[in-house]
Amino acid sequence: MKGIILAGGAGTRLFPITKVLSKQILPLYDKPMIYYPLSVLMLAGIREILIISTPRDLSLFKELFGDGAWLGMKFEYKVQENPRGLADAFIVGSDFIGKESCVMVLGDNVFYGRGFTKVLRDTRTKIESEGGGAIFGYYVKDPKAYGVVDFDEDGRALSIEEKPEYPKSHYAVPGLYFYDNSVIDIAKNVKPSKRGEIEITAVNNAYLNKNNLYVQTLGRGMTWLDTGTYDGLLEAANFIETIQKRQGMYVSCIEEIAFSNGWISKDELINLAAIYKTEYGDYLNFIAENV
Ligand code: G1P
Repeated sequence: MKGIILAGGAGTRLFPITKVLSKQILPLYDKPMIYYPLSVLMLAGIREILIISTPRDLSLFKELFGDGAWLGMKFEYKVQENPRGLADAFIVGSDFIGKESCVMVLGDNVFYGRGFTKVLRDTRTKIESEGGGAIFGYYVKDPKAYGVVDFDEDGRALSIEEKPEYPKSHYAVPGLYFYDNSVIDIAKNVKPSKRGEIEITAVNNAYLNKNNLYVQTLGRGMTWLDTGTYDGLLEAANFIETIQKRQGMYVSCIEEIAFSNGWISKDELINLAAIYKTEYGDYLNFIAENV
């Protein structure tokens, strides 16, 4: 399975912060925002990743991650010329995906919670062995800003609507999507919505209509955060700070995950630690010596 991080968009809801800079590069406490969704793909065991961004911002991500070898990974990069919608990522990324299945995470989505790695690995295995698509449902107070999924009494998904004025449930669909290879053809056939975008929700509905969409709800112990507003950005940063200071263990530390996945050696981790004369570097040393 291959991984895609979509880090596009004009970030207009965060202007002027994002007037000249990609939203997904902004700091969330001690790391660039994109570290958080990247860590999700790494926890799923995904080693080959395509980052898609705007013509203006793609070079920032190239500078940040390079070819990915320092994490024992392989990164590729592709420009999305126009913000045509989330489903466009599968068209832009079709050569990269090739004949494989793929998982896409949005570059501004933050996930944290016990047991999440198992959920990711199980979902990956399911799509790789059975095909189809898999998405998640996360209970939020106000789901109007998201894709919203509703269920029948047996927990089967009935419909998914994009940013509905009158949501049929409280379950928002986070920006994390697993699909078999047919997603490329499905995306190519999606018609633009009223806002002129080829919506990921249309892709999900195509799978749902074929009875081929697996929807899992993420329970109360899971955290899925929105970073799309000033308040969301600050709250997410405060959340990360709180957890990290209390436990002394980092959220979404990509070097730590690369090490625990066996993708880099202890010596390589210590060399990375030496680059950062900060608490972040101290933490990498701690992981190298104690884990
Ligand atoms: C997008 C999707 C939406 C999803 C959300 C998750 O919304 O269209 O279905 O729930 O991401 O972050 P956007 O961020 O483009 O408003």
